[in-house]
Amino acid sequence: MKKIYELKFVEKLFDKMSSSYAKVNYITSFGFSERWRKQCVEAIEIEKGKVVVDLMCGMGECWKHILKKSDAHSTLIALDFSSEMLKRAEKKKAKYHNVNILKENVLNNSIEDHTADYIICGFGLKTFNHTQLKALANEIDRILKPNGKFSLIDVSVPENKLLRFFYMFYLKRIIPVLGWLFFGSPENYKMLGIYTQKFGNAKHIRLAFQRHNFEVEYVEYFYGCASGIKGQKLGT
Ligand SMILES: C[S@@+](CC[C@H](N)C(=O)[O-])C[C@H]1O[C@@H](n2cnc3c(N)ncnc32)[C@H](O)[C@@H]1O
Repeated sequence: MKKIYELKFVEKLFDKMSSSYAKVNYITSFGFSERWRKQCVEAIEIEKGKVVVDLMCGMGECWKHILKKSDAHSTLIALDFSSEMLKRAEKKKAKYHNVNILKENVLNNSIEDHTADYIICGFGLKTFNHTQLKALANEIDRILKPNGKFSLIDVSVPENKLLRFFYMFYLKRIIPVLGWLFFGSPENYKMLGIYTQKFGNAKHIRLAFQRHNFEVEYVEYFYGCASGIKGQKLGT
């Protein structure tokens, strides 16, 4: 099971899922994923004319919510390492101004220190183990300007037992069948349940992000079916 956190494994997984990702993401969250992205972005009141970094941007699913808060002086830097996801992001990019796409590993990226006023990450946390999450926290610390804000979200295991039973049954048993029926690939879609089960919720992410210069808050979405953290890097 160790290899599920290997970068090559994750990169290939998203390359393979890219053609059906949008639909499956929508179905697996019962259509909530769009609403959660919007809530995740709105959790940090983005101002116009600023630099926003979208980490693990996929096909640019968060952009419409981010760019609603932007103007001609704003910049969006979007980063992902899956070429197939990014091919689709490139198409979307044509609709917007000032979007720069980087095909890089987030844990070893070329974004300069203190670049971002805001950092968003939609559903990119669960494919990291604890060590990688700490490295992600270091990168967010490095990239953010003092007083910069971040909001991160992922699909989670709800704490309510009944909801947990049905939601996890759905993620682990039904989604792979749907993946098999409609997209011919139960194996890839099994991974969603596996990663989510191991991820639990974002409380442990908050711990990985706890440091002297960060204020971090745990956030739950729809009774814990998704969770995340939002916070601020304190000025120096
Ligand atoms: C579940 S998708 C989320 C896409 C999008 N942010 C959304 O809201 O739907 C996770 C994305 O993270 C990317 N990813 C995972 N690990 C990464 C890493 N180490 N560096 C860069 N991208 C990574 C994957 O390629 C994939 O596109």
